[in-house]
Amino acid sequence: MNRLDGKVALISGAARGIGAATARLMAEAGAKVVVADILQERARQTADEITAADGKGLFVPLDVTSETSWTAAVAATTRQFGQLDILVNNAGMFLGRDFEEATLEDWNRLVAINMTGVFLGTKLSAPALRESAKKSKHGSAIVNLASIAGLVGSQLDPLYSMTKGGVTLFTKSTALAFARKGYRIRVNSIHPGVIETDMGAQTFAARAGQLGSNDVETARNTALKQHPIGRLGVADDIARGIVFLASDDAGFMTGSGMVVDGGLTAQ
Ligand code: NAI
Repeated sequence: MNRLDGKVALISGAARGIGAATARLMAEAGAKVVVADILQERARQTADEITAADGKGLFVPLDVTSETSWTAAVAATTRQFGQLDILVNNAGMFLGRDFEEATLEDWNRLVAINMTGVFLGTKLSAPALRESAKKSKHGSAIVNLASIAGLVGSQLDPLYSMTKGGVTLFTKSTALAFARKGYRIRVNSIHPGVIETDMGAQTFAARAGQLGSNDVETARNTALKQHPIGRLGVADDIARGIVFLASDDAGFMTGSGMVVDGGLTAQ
């Protein structure tokens, strides 16, 4: 049985990386998937690949920092697929600067994408998620991409850590508030270790910069050594966790944080 048969999922930042892997796995699991991103060409390509593989993929332009853009994306989803069961707040950015070097402009951009994006996505998707929850045994689901940097401090990027810590507790708070109000929307977060995506590469470059070198390969090996499991993560490692949290298999989970980090934070 496919775990997401009949479900409709909207994934922010799904053009590439963890979001794209999640879109592909959700489609394989039977969901209709909205690939929403500011990178329009790449997102359209990801949606087309899903359709070419006999899945149901729809590209929708989305800038997570904009209220009107979210409103349009949710409307396009329900217009095309009739409902919304799953929201994945995945879009995010990494700054990779010591906080002494970061400007107020850097900070505002980081907050707009990593925090305002999650707030707006949750707020503007909630009515459609509540509606479809009425017809579902375990209700609807939101999965927020936090990070291990939202559980323990990141010396590499304290400002990124601050935004992801916010996402961690916003997840728990909205889970409680929705449960109290009887919305039947489960909300959980996922906390990846270092994952080999474009953002992963940015973290290696930032680490090399802090060591005063351009040696990205050495920085990558340093990051790898922090993962007791002996490798860095790949996008599918996280996508599998997201599919689980979004599915009815996680029907008794809300307000939880799932750590998928190769043992990094177990130390
Ligand atoms: P990525 O950089 O490969 O992909 C991020 C996606 O978000 C891109 O497609 C980008 O266009 C999109 N995006 C950025 N700003 C946007 C905006 N304003 N509106 C709509 N879309 C926007 O990153 P990756 O690695 O796939 O990360 C996905 C999530 O996982 C992020 O929230 C990130 O913070 C989190 N994460 C990633 C880790 C890693 O090591 N790669 C580790 C822990 C968490």
